[in-house]
Amino acid sequence: MKITKNLYLMAAAVLALVSCGQKQAGTVGASSEVESRIEHILGQMTLAEKIGQMNQVSAGGEVSNYAEAIRKGQVGSILNEVDPVKLNEFQRLAVEESRLGIPLLVGRDVIHGFHTIFPIPLGLAATFDPALVEEGARIAAVEATAQGVRWTFSPMLDIARDPRWGRIAEGSGEDTYLDARMAEAMVHGYQGEVLDTTSMAACVKHFVGYGAAEGGRDYNSTFLTERQLRNFYLPPFEAAIKAGAMTLMTSFNDNDGVPSTGNAFVVKDILRGEWGFDGLVVTDWDSMGEMIDHGFGADRKDVAEKAINAGVDMDMMTYGFLSHLEELVKEGAVKQSAIDQAVRNILRIKIMLGLFEHPYVDVEAAKAVQYAPEHLAAARKTAEESAILLKNDGILPLRGKGRILVTGPMADAPWDQLGTWCFDGQKEHTVTPLKALQERFPGQVTYVPGLRFSREKRESFADVVSAARSADVVLAFLGEEAILSGEAHCLADLNLIGSQSELLAALKATGKPVVATILAGRPLTIERDLPNCNAVLYSFHPGTMGGPALASLLSGDANPSGKTPITFLRTVGQAPLYYNHNMTGRPYRGEKLLADIDLEAGQTSLGNTSYYLDYGAYPLFPFGYGLSYTTFEYSNASLDKKEYGVEDTITLSFTLSNTGEYKGTEVVQVYVRDLVGTLTRPVKELKAFERVELASGESRTVTLQIPVQSLAFWGLDGVKKVEPGDFQLWVAGDSATGEALSFKVL
Ligand code: BGC
Repeated sequence: MKITKNLYLMAAAVLALVSCGQKQAGTVGASSEVESRIEHILGQMTLAEKIGQMNQVSAGGEVSNYAEAIRKGQVGSILNEVDPVKLNEFQRLAVEESRLGIPLLVGRDVIHGFHTIFPIPLGLAATFDPALVEEGARIAAVEATAQGVRWTFSPMLDIARDPRWGRIAEGSGEDTYLDARMAEAMVHGYQGEVLDTTSMAACVKHFVGYGAAEGGRDYNSTFLTERQLRNFYLPPFEAAIKAGAMTLMTSFNDNDGVPSTGNAFVVKDILRGEWGFDGLVVTDWDSMGEMIDHGFGADRKDVAEKAINAGVDMDMMTYGFLSHLEELVKEGAVKQSAIDQAVRNILRIKIMLGLFEHPYVDVEAAKAVQYAPEHLAAARKTAEESAILLKNDGILPLRGKGRILVTGPMADAPWDQLGTWCFDGQKEHTVTPLKALQERFPGQVTYVPGLRFSREKRESFADVVSAARSADVVLAFLGEEAILSGEAHCLADLNLIGSQSELLAALKATGKPVVATILAGRPLTIERDLPNCNAVLYSFHPGTMGGPALASLLSGDANPSGKTPITFLRTVGQAPLYYNHNMTGRPYRGEKLLADIDLEAGQTSLGNTSYYLDYGAYPLFPFGYGLSYTTFEYSNASLDKKEYGVEDTITLSFTLSNTGEYKGTEVVQVYVRDLVGTLTRPVKELKAFERVELASGESRTVTLQIPVQSLAFWGLDGVKKVEPGDFQLWVAGDSATGEALSFKVL
């Protein structure tokens, strides 16, 4: 029977009424009614219509350019159009004018906010506050879905240990545990507690290993062993999928020779097989086509075959599926069942998002939610929590009095403070530090930019220096323009760019106190600048409300609580340097550095340990580091037992005291080391954290639970398990301090 559109819609509506039944086993949580609805639709589809669903098109420009393809059912998803009027028209073409009326899935890179821009993801991670990060993702979803975007290509879960890699800005940094907690928070935030019209499907990316690009050069090869993947790179993805992430994107890189988009081992065996993922797998932009450039496939037909047979459902912008799948099925190179499975995965998301019932948006209502006051307030709070106080000789907080010179290229850079991957945030809505400080300290602020943008070079700073002489304190806003980090924006030199270091030196020479606030997309190597600053506040690009957030922190209206989600290097030559490295056979023991080495010293006189003769073995700031205007003391740390079974939970208690003058929040962190394993184990691994707010003088007993199972790792035998033996545990305010407690796993 030929199904007419109306008949189809009626059937869909009837099924929609009952689609809230029992949940099934799949990771995205579709009910059996959803599954039967999928089969019902699938049963009506021609092979060409099925393949059309697997095609994603970038649809900027005139709607009419895509109308014919949509009518013919050749487009399953579009990206890069956010105008709600156009999106309604796109949906109308799909729903009213294509044979089966299947709505489009509209995707967009909503990475750290839609219109209201939050700090870049590296800054989000610095908050160590999953609840707040979830709230930000929810806000992004509310704004974006109101305009018709129901799918975001976020969160990016790529562990990154090399700050030269520009996309380090877009993830949660170097730690697997922190990344996993941020992943869950963002998935929950985007998709919402229950799926409704404000739910935006999350897309975890880039699967997998992309952040380990050799030399920190984007798109470069990675060489991760299966054990490295399983112990460090895969767990955040698994956590996100357990949290219900509906979609996943394959990455650009080849790992040990196999490009991810053609990697059946990671997509089919691990993602689908081991984790049971029944969501949608999309390629990265033309990553299918790029398998030809990798030399992994001869032509588009060849790579289309490789991609579908590896488990990919949707092709972003190669048109490889659209052009060749039909032929490949006829030739028997691709099974019809593989196509059916891919289409099921796509329809499942569309049905669960309610797109069949609600393909259109209310254009007027969409306007009302953008930049809503509560969205701006959340963005401000997040920016406040994400800034990290790296140095303070007591000059901060400013507490109000005196003349303030504001200078530096990032003081009034409304576009650049939004950071990378900001397609929809408008700089007209940005509040810069200059504007916020002028409001906070009326009549006290003088502004002399010194440098107009971060890359600018200048010989003399006479104007700034003379203004500094008449000020009581200098606030220098430095860092990187937004374009210097993000996709393909890698750097080989991580010192402050342009003449920013010279500006700081000139300011220091005036003898006035200098506070540097750095707005950047990555941890820059600022060691040479530290002596020229009395205080350093580090804010990864903080977004729309970065100005008020930083003004609150500098003035003391708020107290910094951010912690480094990534190791800060002394010099770029140390990269990669990360806290959870394996123990070497010859750890550094403080051996001589260049200046102390005798002339004609004997070959073995330096002790032969693991370090650089010029820079030693340690970073500038370790992972998890960050100061406050108050001080915290840890005491009475104890574990509830000395020995645990593998299914037990460790209860750690300690007293945290605020020993300073200000109310403040400490991010308490728990690290564990497995002393002897069948493999060498990391020197420390983060296993728990919590933000604890204390009034000045207040002490509190804090209790944290660590399941012994969280100490499991993939061993030599290819099995994930906890190995019995001796462990050490630290609770501290960063990864480099604290006193070890001991326990045993039986
Ligand atoms: C990026 C992805 C992004 C996609 C769509 C690619 O270049 O690698 O992260 O989601 O473009 O814009």
